[in-house]
Amino acid sequence: MSIDPRAFRDAMGCFATAVTVVTTTSAEGRPVGVTVNSFNSVSLEPPLVLFSLGRDSTNLQAFLDAGRFAVNVLRQDQQRLSQGFANDGMSFFCSVDHEISRLGNPLLADAVASFDCRLDARHDGGDHLIFIGRVHGLRHSDGAAPLLYYRGRYASLDARI
Ligand SMILES: Cc1cc2nc3c(=O)[nH]c(=O)nc-3n(C[C@H](O)[C@H](O)[C@H](O)COP(=O)(O)O)c2cc1C
Repeated sequence: MSIDPRAFRDAMGCFATAVTVVTTTSAEGRPVGVTVNSFNSVSLEPPLVLFSLGRDSTNLQAFLDAGRFAVNVLRQDQQRLSQGFANDGMSFFCSVDHEISRLGNPLLADAVASFDCRLDARHDGGDHLIFIGRVHGLRHSDGAAPLLYYRGRYASLDARI
């Protein structure tokens, strides 16, 4: 049975996620970032995480070349960053407050959490590539609320149950 792509997107949209910006540095030394919600944890021991990046992303080569990346979990009021990094992840960085991690990855200011990773493995994932990273550093904020994505729209964590 073939699956209609629209129906697949709509069904996947029911899976609420946080919104992250994955970052790295290009071979020319410029910071690069892409908005992704395909982030997930893989393993606790060793600490591994993953995200998938479209093969047609203009930023794909930078992530392949660098062999390291950071994942920044956006705060509820960072919707502007989500849109900016979804549209143009290189020139948008000029206006974004960040610092460089121990591994050399850009960490966004005020993110709810950041994971500083070295590339551990790369796998084919259809029209995406799956990046698995080993976490070498992290930080997080206990109080800040994350930006959520649900059924194609941004959402917030209004209440805990
Ligand atoms: C909320 C949200 C989540 C996204 N998640 C992903 C993702 O997991 N993987 C991906 O390749 N693109 C994802 N995108 C699209 C990318 O942010 C970006 O638009 C795409 O890679 C094309 O831009 P580029 O060529 O500058 O990379 C997402 C966009 C938004 C707004």
